[in-house]
Amino acid sequence: MTMATVIVVASVGVSTPKPFALELDDFRQVRARIAPHIKHTPLLTSRQLSERSGHDVRVKAEMFQRVGSYKIRGPLNKFALMPDELKRRGVVCSSAGNHAQGVALAARVHGIRAVVCMAANATPAKIAATRGYGAEVVLHGTIWDEANEKAKELVRSEGLTYVHPFDDEQLIAGQGTLGLEIVQDWPEVDVVVVPIGGGGLISGVSMAVKSHNPKAKVIGVESSDGPAMKRSIAAGRLETIDCGTIIDGLRVRRVGEVTFSVVQRFVDDIVALPDRDIFDAMIWVMERCKLVVEGAAAAPVAALLHGLINVPAGSRVALVLSGGNVNLDQLRGLSWN
Ligand SMILES: Cc1ncc(COP(=O)(O)O)c(C=O)c1O
Repeated sequence: MTMATVIVVASVGVSTPKPFALELDDFRQVRARIAPHIKHTPLLTSRQLSERSGHDVRVKAEMFQRVGSYKIRGPLNKFALMPDELKRRGVVCSSAGNHAQGVALAARVHGIRAVVCMAANATPAKIAATRGYGAEVVLHGTIWDEANEKAKELVRSEGLTYVHPFDDEQLIAGQGTLGLEIVQDWPEVDVVVVPIGGGGLISGVSMAVKSHNPKAKVIGVESSDGPAMKRSIAAGRLETIDCGTIIDGLRVRRVGEVTFSVVQRFVDDIVALPDRDIFDAMIWVMERCKLVVEGAAAAPVAALLHGLINVPAGSRVALVLSGGNVNLDQLRGLSWN
């Protein structure tokens, strides 16, 4: 797989950067590369969701992935491709969520030192989970931006490689293996619905689905309390927004350059609905489907239940339930009834 390919138009001698795009074969290679370390998570039928929506609905149960979300797929691919010299120096990221755990375990698999920067007020359970996967946790500042500054400083002072949570081509290729599994398990799928934070997951999944069947639709879901991708797509350029969502997988003020470009080319529609509706869907899935989903993962279900997935009746719809790392303390604190 090549990164940032440049094609030269011989007749006029002008170089045009070719936008980043991956084909099914690329994803097959990536899938084979990371296969020993991940699970092929199940695509489950759901009578409840099918009856409610009038479609044929299946859910990609990625909460059963190692580390409890899809976030290990991308780092595993990135580290497998990393030159030995960089591996020896180690990697760093900043996150208090699923990215931290994905990077930590993928680094351990590859025998790489991993440093994870978190804000000092990160929940003790998340710090413990990340340490449990073998990473060194550095606590710095009180918000993600400050922790991220610390990570950048470690890149400069210790030569660690920064692992971006979404705007990275090798990472996107890894996350997209989830889409490959969907089309392998259900080649006739018509619609795939994916949550969007920074856009890494939907970038990979949309390229995998479209290269399998260009007519299949890929629909993204954001919180309307922080629709960074929807705004940027509507504006035709990257926008930085005020982000009010409290759902951590969906909380991004500005999406990536690579992810924006991929979503522009491969995603058919982006829908948004408020946090409150997404929380209701979390409970709905736990109650009816008996699956534990975190907020971001419940967003596709919320969109379907609220009639936002505008496709012909009877369509074959796959919903990506991207993770199940629920902070049970938060869950106890909210009242839905
Ligand atoms: C469970 C889960 N789903 C979806 C997302 C959104 O993914 P992305 O930022 O790649 O768009 C995240 C991001 O952290 C997540 O943790």
